[in-house]
Amino acid sequence: MQKKIVANWKMYLTLSQSVALAKRISNLKSQISNLAVVLCPSFVALEEVGKAIKNRGVKLGAQDVFCCAKEGAFTGEVGIDDLRELGVKYVLVGHSERRQHFHETDAQVNQKLKMVIKAGLRPILCVGESVEIRKRGEECGYVAKQVKAGIKGVPKQKLDKLLIAYEPIWAIGTGRADTPEDASEMQGWIRKVIGSARVPILYGGSVNSKNAVAFLRADNVDGLLIGGASTKSAEFMKILRKVC
Ligand code: 13P
Repeated sequence: MQKKIVANWKMYLTLSQSVALAKRISNLKSQISNLAVVLCPSFVALEEVGKAIKNRGVKLGAQDVFCCAKEGAFTGEVGIDDLRELGVKYVLVGHSERRQHFHETDAQVNQKLKMVIKAGLRPILCVGESVEIRKRGEECGYVAKQVKAGIKGVPKQKLDKLLIAYEPIWAIGTGRADTPEDASEMQGWIRKVIGSARVPILYGGSVNSKNAVAFLRADNVDGLLIGGASTKSAEFMKILRKVC
């Protein structure tokens, strides 16, 4: 399976910063052609980043989508057809920051995931436990529940479109990444829960140029979902060069 590197730029970069970084990454792409690289800028940067990476082998991803309708009176939301028209191929659903700060429920995440699949795009279902859950030793049950709720009602053959990202909340933006061994174990468990060898499972949470290779070498780690480190040009280039 081709390793996937997904950059989640969250709300870190402005439009011009996003375009500049996207151009630098596409210039590098010919040297890293064995990797699938996906950039997820903010909604407002999607169009220009899309132009910057067009025909350069880098793919466009969105950080979210409206769950519940394709169009209508939903002020401030962004619908799936807009994303598709802009050339988006991947959509993050259920990122822990959306679950935490915007109170997204498993049911909404499931609606989003189905919306993305129905539109012919690829959802990246984000799952991961809090530090409290980990301390209680309940992380496997918790993550399994998130995975099952996320894909509820999706026919098995449609799971081909799906990617999963395991991002333990306590590792996100903290500089305290999981160990490759523990991530590998959890991702093996997720694979068992999902019952398919074809669904790529990514690791995310404080990935940087020092630990990226070790994560990608671990069993059941088919790629990386990178936040902070993907917004810093030199650091992200270093990661891409090291893991290719
Ligand atoms: P960091 O790489 O900044 O820890 O963020 C991970 C993440 O949330 C990617 O979606």
